[in-house]
Amino acid sequence: MDEMSYLFEVFDRMTQTGPGSDASSRRALRRFSDLPDRPRIADFGCGPGRTSLLLARETQGEVIAIESHAPCIDALARRAEREGLSRYLFPMVADMGQPPIAPKSLDLIWSEGAIYFLGFQRGLELWRPLLKTRAGIAVTEITWLTDHPSPANDRFWRREYPAMQSLAANVAAVEQAGYELIETFTLPPEDWSLHYYTPLQVSIDQLRADHPDEPLAQQCAAILQAEIDLYGAHGTEYGYVFYLARMA
Ligand SMILES: C[S@@+](CC[C@H](N)C(=O)[O-])C[C@H]1O[C@@H](n2cnc3c(N)ncnc32)[C@H](O)[C@@H]1O
Repeated sequence: MDEMSYLFEVFDRMTQTGPGSDASSRRALRRFSDLPDRPRIADFGCGPGRTSLLLARETQGEVIAIESHAPCIDALARRAEREGLSRYLFPMVADMGQPPIAPKSLDLIWSEGAIYFLGFQRGLELWRPLLKTRAGIAVTEITWLTDHPSPANDRFWRREYPAMQSLAANVAAVEQAGYELIETFTLPPEDWSLHYYTPLQVSIDQLRADHPDEPLAQQCAAILQAEIDLYGAHGTEYGYVFYLARMA
């Protein structure tokens, strides 16, 4: 087994693989109250699909859920079937950097905890041509909330995500990519601790227990544990911010 297989083992047990909650997603969705009937929405980097299911349930539109990790898409399709949402939700294994979606065809783009894989501004620029005129976008991105991070934070995030920016720099990136900002809000602490890190901790403990003699599995567990512990000690210095905007 390699490092990626152990990481998938941890995350494939979870129903969301980043900070967030239905309450925060609904708060963001309420800002797009002028959506047409049956809006066409893409959820990029949907993972296990918490947000795709929510968007399907709330809008009863056409939600295209795009994810590169096939097991997530298989599980999401089964869950949509069980919850009676298959007619609204279309899970697809694809690259969100080259999505198989026609230009100017979307009423809304959604992406929680995934745009960093493309780069924040680059992702915004790549996705803009897919939107209909004046259509909206809602993305979350981990963001520095202080100009002076503690040394422990600085060290960890410089290694894990050196491109992390301040809120002001991200707002500038939104505008530079051709959008008009509607609102930003920071996800509350429970979106990390209760909705993400509590199930992640259970899954990390399971990995440790399942592979007691595998140094690589224990190492993966230690890296994930370090992120949880750092949040406990210095989590007020950074946060996940929702950036809500529409095509300028
Ligand atoms: C941190 S997870 C967040 C998942 C989900 N949005 C959530 O909040 O639970 C990021 C997801 O983006 C997916 N991803 C990364 N690069 C991708 C790409 N180029 N195309 C599609 N999905 C991608 C990963 O496989 C992962 O499932």
